[in-house]
Amino acid sequence: MANLIVFMFFCSLAFVVVVSDDIYPYFSKIQMPPGVTGPESAAFDAAGGGPYVSVADGRILKWNYIFNVFVEFAYTAPNRNKRLCDRTTDPNLGPICGRPLGLSFNYATGFLYIVDAYFGFLVVGPLGGLAIQIANSADGAPLKFANGVDVDQKTGIVYFQHSSETYNLWNTTQPGFIGDSTGRFLKFDPKTKHVTVLLSGLAGGGGPAVNFDSSFVIVPEFSAKRLHKFWLSGPKANTAEILINLPGNPNKVKRSETQGEFWVAVSVTTQQPTFTTPMGLRINGVGEVLESLSLPEEYYCNKSISVVQEHNSALFIGSRVTDFLGVLKKKP
Ligand SMILES: *[C@@H]1O[C@H](CO)[C@@H](O)[C@H](O)[C@H]1NC(C)=O
Ligand SMILES: *[C@@H]1O[C@H](CO)[C@@H](O)[C@H](O)[C@H]1NC(C)=O
Repeated sequence: MANLIVFMFFCSLAFVVVVSDDIYPYFSKIQMPPGVTGPESAAFDAAGGGPYVSVADGRILKWNYIFNVFVEFAYTAPNRNKRLCDRTTDPNLGPICGRPLGLSFNYATGFLYIVDAYFGFLVVGPLGGLAIQIANSADGAPLKFANGVDVDQKTGIVYFQHSSETYNLWNTTQPGFIGDSTGRFLKFDPKTKHVTVLLSGLAGGGGPAVNFDSSFVIVPEFSAKRLHKFWLSGPKANTAEILINLPGNPNKVKRSETQGEFWVAVSVTTQQPTFTTPMGLRINGVGEVLESLSLPEEYYCNKSISVVQEHNSALFIGSRVTDFLGVLKKKP
């Protein structure tokens, strides 16, 4: 009984601005296949196919809505061994099996851009299979722990981030791990094939999101608990400013279906005892919080989330620590 009371006490400690249970009252789960965990990312292709999820065993799976199953779509590790890797949750196998953490389609070409914690920045064609590595370093420093990517659908330019030049995902799971400030925000121009560093010295990474009109990119800085606004055009082009300080660690930022708005996956962790409250924040381009989403406590008690992806008015909630993708739906 004591455990139950503690559980209920902590799980009702939510940091909320506006509780939107009324707006998104329907929660369902898309279960991962048996043994598969950690749908960190959720993406949809130009035809609305998906969700495509990137999971802990190194694969990208695609939801088949006719048979209601996930099928294998792509993978990132060139020497990935299916017998060893499929369904593994062993973080030590990341360098062999791969660990894709971020996905973004170019709707015009059908190419899926992928960032992987061990294999950097990659792309795969519409038929899937082994992704081709585009870059695993930039300006002479490795793209360790690449974790977020976004395609500007107007220009085809791809923006991505990695958390560090020194530590990888595996290091962060080790006791006593201390991060650093060697994260970077980069761009890839498919016309010139050049990778350019736009921001460096970031304390951790996350997933960037470019505004619908290509005027700026929102760049999360995970450990510093804030979002930057990197201007692409106008008088402040190629400069960044702090957009908003957050109560917790932001992972991916994704465009909302409403132009000029974004969903940010934030995990608020307090110490003694260690406890994480996940939040989905809807923000605009001037850093105003428009909505703060509370997730069903029975599924997200003390769990971090990594992405809130809006699609057809529903929200797909990805997490590195669940065996399902959460789906929140509005009242019809
Ligand atoms: C990450 O782990 C590797 C392998 O144990 C180790 O050699 C390296 O020093 C670690 N890096 C950091 C920054 O902790
Ligand atoms: C929350 O999870 C962390 C590990 O992820 C664990 O160390 C901590 O004890 C948990 N907190 C509670 C109150 O259960």
